[in-house]
This record gives sequence, structure tokens and C-alpha cells, in this order.
Amino acid sequence: MSFRDKNSKIIIKNAEQIDGIRRSSKLAAQTLKAVAPYVKAGVTTGYLNDIAEQFMRDHGAIPATLGYHGYTKASCISVNDVICHGIPGKLELREGDILNVDVTTILNGYYGDTSTMFTVGEVTPHAQQLIDVTQECLDLGITQCIPGKRIGDIGYVINKHAVKHGYSTVYEFCGHGIGLYFHEEPEVCHVAEANTGAVIQPGMIFTIEPMINAGKARAKVDKKDGWTARTIDGKLSAQFEHTILVTETIPEVLTDINHRYPVPSAI
Ligand code: MF3
Ligand code: CO
Ligand code: CO
Repeated sequence: MSFRDKNSKIIIKNAEQIDGIRRSSKLAAQTLKAVAPYVKAGVTTGYLNDIAEQFMRDHGAIPATLGYHGYTKASCISVNDVICHGIPGKLELREGDILNVDVTTILNGYYGDTSTMFTVGEVTPHAQQLIDVTQECLDLGITQCIPGKRIGDIGYVINKHAVKHGYSTVYEFCGHGIGLYFHEEPEVCHVAEANTGAVIQPGMIFTIEPMINAGKARAKVDKKDGWTARTIDGKLSAQFEHTILVTETIPEVLTDINHRYPVPSAI
């Protein structure tokens, strides 16, 4: 995202804040899991959005996107060539579609942000490979989240991996600090030079959310709705997002409820 709700400095979170953000992040991840069974051909993106909104509210959270800079939905749902900020609505999913669902919760004032890819029925091997490589890009980015590394190291490994597979990395939308506000410092770009940017420190919480395109990197925002960002060549785009806590050791992936990532041991 390119908005900044808190523009001054990177906020190092204390134990109480971390606990609150951990809970909110877990709920965001559970929201995506709740949506999963409903993803099938014939279902509208508006319906998936309603499932997500109901789940968040049933668990005491508010969708952070509602009313955010004029956005009116509880999630972003980005299908096929939509890179991000797809507005859920009447669009019906079809066999072979790939889509990203992105949700951000506010629970007791704390923010958690995550997104994942879904597939509708059988998708082409080409689409599946784009999804797999995008997941690998996020995983590689997460390996860089250790004290002493720098924010630019994250984008460096992500873009290197995307390019190795013949893909391109979107540079117009970035990850971001999160927790007390929706979009905090630092900006976490997915294309960057190694050894540049802020030094990564324990207590930082930020998202990594690479958007990887099958074709050209450029995004164009829909003139009519002001949000939907599409690839300029109509080719597919994929994205995964996690909210990450930097610790003294390995990062804690706060939105990982599937136990895909190792957990730092308590010191
Ligand atoms: N969840 C998105 C992100 O990852 C932001 C969506 S803002 C909205 O940063 F207004 F488009 F919803
Ligand atoms: Co985000
Ligand atoms: Co998000």
C-alpha cells in the first residue's frame, strides 16, 4: 500500500502491544480460513467479502478497510490480472480463476493484515507456478527479518527470485509497518537493493506482501473506481501477505495459523 497513517518513525512495539497485534493477526488469518470453503465457480466476490466481514464481526473485530480512504468493503479480492485492491462485488468466479483475498482486522485497537491466493477448480500449470513462486518470494523475504539485516534485503531477495523465474515484481505497492495503525513506517518494498533501508530490530512489526506478475511489472489503477490495480498487459498477478514480528532470533509470522514457519523459542 502507499498510504501512511503514521508517518514519523518506526514504532517498536512493547509486550502488551505485541500481544494485542498477535491476537488480531491470528483472527485475520482465521478469517481467510473461514472464506476458503466458499471459493468455487459461480460464487461472487461480494459473497466472499460478506463471509469475511461476518467472521470478523462475530469475533469482535472491525474490518480495517471499511471507510479507509473512502474504501467501502471489508476485504480486497483481486482476480486474475488484478494485482491488488480489487473491490468485491458482482463478479462471479469461474473455473480456472486465481484470486487473492486480503483482510485486515482491528481487534481491541490492534491491526493484523494478511492475504492468500485461492484457485477455482483446475488452473493452468502456468497459473499454479506463478502462485508457487510468489509464495516462495514471501518465504524468502521472511528469512531476512532478523536483527542487523536491513529492510532493503527483503525486497532484494524477493525480486531476485521473481526474476529468476521470468516474472516481474510490482514496485508501486509495498509492505508496511503495522499494529497500532494500518500503514506505519517502514515501507517494505518488494524490489530493493541489498543492504539499504532501516536496520531491522526486535519489536518491529511489518507486513511483507509481494505482488508478482507473469508479464510486465507496471500497475494501472482503474479510472472509474479509483482502486482496482491491474497489470498493464492483462497477464496474471499473484500475492501473499503476512504480518511479521521481528524477535531477537527468527521472526514470528503472526498471521501463520497453518504452522508453515518455525516459531522462535522463548528466551
Ligand atoms: N490490506 C491492504 C494491504 O495489504 C490494504 C488495503 S487498503 C484498501 O496493505 F483500502 F484498499 F482496502
Ligand atoms: Co498490508
Ligand atoms: Co493486506
